[in-house]
Amino acid sequence: MIENSAENLHKSILLNETVELLAIKANGIYVDATLGLGGHTETILSTHPGSRVIGIDQDAAAIALASKRLAKFGERVTFVHANFTKLKEVLEDNGIDRVDGLIADLGVSSLQFDSDERGFSFRFDAPLDMRMDAGSDVPTAADLLATLSQDEIANVIYRFGEERFSRRIARRIVEKRENGEPVTTTKQLIELIERSVRRSPKDKIHPATRTFQALRIAVNHEVEILEQFVRDAVESLKIEGRFAVITFHSLEDRIVKQTFQKLSGKCFCPPRMPVCTCGAKKIVEIITKKPVVPSEDETRENPRSRSAKLRAVRRLVH
Ligand SMILES: C[S@@+](CC[C@H](N)C(=O)[O-])C[C@H]1O[C@@H](n2cnc3c(N)ncnc32)[C@H](O)[C@@H]1O
Ligand SMILES: [Zn+2]
Repeated sequence: MIENSAENLHKSILLNETVELLAIKANGIYVDATLGLGGHTETILSTHPGSRVIGIDQDAAAIALASKRLAKFGERVTFVHANFTKLKEVLEDNGIDRVDGLIADLGVSSLQFDSDERGFSFRFDAPLDMRMDAGSDVPTAADLLATLSQDEIANVIYRFGEERFSRRIARRIVEKRENGEPVTTTKQLIELIERSVRRSPKDKIHPATRTFQALRIAVNHEVEILEQFVRDAVESLKIEGRFAVITFHSLEDRIVKQTFQKLSGKCFCPPRMPVCTCGAKKIVEIITKKPVVPSEDETRENPRSRSAKLRAVRRLVH
């Protein structure tokens, strides 16, 4: 049996590309806002012996595994179990004003996706939970399916999953609920989706993929929190500090791209406005003209990297 350690549970995506874009400084201080199993942090700490990392993750199980993997770095790494929406408080609690760089590798980790009890994957029968912070009191995916209206469920599945059959899936979920058989497990949801979608021979992905992704994004408020987090991260940088973000779907990538554009001074006022009222001000330079994507070798070795996009900025002024 393979040991359940951080190293063999998760292959870090765009590892060298990300660390290179951060242009790590010898004695720099960095934040890994999505520590996961610590792959990116390990590379920073091992290649730059004077550097320090504050590693944040909202998943206590990830923090536990990463702590073991990174124990060899002693006090150069600080572990914080928190949502990255609390970035500013985390820095303040640690007596840090600004940092030399930040990284966010968004989405789920293999630890979460490969768990047979947390409900992230359609490969295992489990309660529909999907909370990254399993100890928090945010509603689970089953709670959402039990309480949202049919339209709200359909909108979640359409918006966050781009699922063409969202309305039909939502109708069946609500029909079951009204018959006293609420959908509470991954297996029940998969069966219902399989009856609701028309498969095309061109489809390479499992028919439940889009709905599962959508529910996970909704449960963890992944889209709502992103723009403010990107702004907080940039505000936490020293001049010349860098921020690198890896996204895994187009909705996230669009938010990161547009927020970077706004922070780099692009005016988003409607056309024909005589003066700019959107407050455009250049405080960063975008250092990835186009997003960096994984090499063919990486996507072959790790198919989960296929949709990854990496963007980065450099802070110019305070
Ligand atoms: C793709 S994994 C990171 C993998 C990591 N870079 C590595 O190399 O091992 C994403 C991690 O971010 C965490 N995460 C996602 N959203 C978060 C948030 N809002 N606040 C804190 N952690 C979050 C997840 O719990 C997960 O462990
Ligand atoms: Zn403007």
